[in-house]
Amino acid sequence: MISIASRMEGISPFYVMELLEKAQQLEAAGRTIVHMEVGEPAFPLPSKVIAAAAESLERGNSGYTTACGLTELRKAISRYYSDGYELKVPFERIIITPGSSGALQLVMAAAINAGDEVMMADPTYPCNRHFVLAFGGIAKNIPVDAASDYQLTAELVRDHWGEKTRAVMVASPSNPTGTLIAKEELTKIYQVVAERGGLLIVDEIYQKLLYQQKGYSALSLGENLIVINSFSKYFGMTGLRVGWLVAPKEMLDPLARLAQNFFISPPAPSQYAAIAAMEPESIAFFEQQRQEFKKRRDFLYPALLEIGFKVPVMPEGAFYIYADCSNFSTDSYNFCHQLLHEAGVAITPGKDFGSHKAESHVRLAYTRDMETTIAGVARLKKYLQG
Ligand SMILES: Cc1ncc(COP(=O)(O)O)c(C=O)c1O
Repeated sequence: MISIASRMEGISPFYVMELLEKAQQLEAAGRTIVHMEVGEPAFPLPSKVIAAAAESLERGNSGYTTACGLTELRKAISRYYSDGYELKVPFERIIITPGSSGALQLVMAAAINAGDEVMMADPTYPCNRHFVLAFGGIAKNIPVDAASDYQLTAELVRDHWGEKTRAVMVASPSNPTGTLIAKEELTKIYQVVAERGGLLIVDEIYQKLLYQQKGYSALSLGENLIVINSFSKYFGMTGLRVGWLVAPKEMLDPLARLAQNFFISPPAPSQYAAIAAMEPESIAFFEQQRQEFKKRRDFLYPALLEIGFKVPVMPEGAFYIYADCSNFSTDSYNFCHQLLHEAGVAITPGKDFGSHKAESHVRLAYTRDMETTIAGVARLKKYLQG
């Protein structure tokens, strides 16, 4: 019998994928399903971005690049920080990775010893706790509520810091709640973590998907933290698998060695596409998409409240609404299956994001067009209000 590593016991499936599979089965049987479950933007890429990937293949640029990525792309990202946030980030501190998932793996491998704790909010992006576990660490899930905008605070970090705590992970805007951490609060968290000799990891993958303010980068707080980002969300390039990290100087060599060993190279055509995605013409297109997301959020948020969901904090970013469904069910997993089968709407159960009040929460993604979002709301309303 093949033995499976014991760490696998802690790696739970993505329940949303299970739901997606069921939705696809229903569609194959002739049903129409409104998809509001998967966090993947659904817009066609600008032709310039597509052409850049195609041209790189035609020119024969389909081999490995250097492990930390193309210098041209690293420089474009450095400009992204100087133009967008007035920050000087030397390109040498930027490492290109296969999606931000690749970046998260490098960081965990470089920073976490067996038994080290990594603190994170519950609810949070599910893969984070699995990355920690895969490298022998322990995910320390801290329950958060509307009172702290579903984010960790400096006080929570201080109160929960233990002897084995090594790192703190936050995401702003967050998946699944779309809520932010104010710069003042993140500054305090940075101080608490630094005083204890820990590492702060800030996931800024939804940084550009903000609807009420310009936002900031955690890189403005100092150099001794890790920032993660990606071309998957604002740039809509999920399947091209390009992300990046910005690291403190003393972590660059270990991270580069890991990148050489883990990935050899990020995908070359995708990196050329990413360079084109950062050009002003492409950014103008992505900004239009951002306005589309805002319109959908401005429609969906009040509509959900009207139906009877509770959303105590207005999501200011990303493309998710994390809604309390306790007016309808306190078993969100079954509720999601019920909505799929009976109303034809696919949404994600809270248990994908943790265990704190997961059974009374669901996540709705407004990644499809406005028409789909309107259709989803109409179906939910008809089913839940009768
Ligand atoms: C908060 C957060 N971080 C990281 C990722 C990973 O994205 P990717 O590997 O496509 O960059 C996701 C994807 O949904 C996410 O929501």
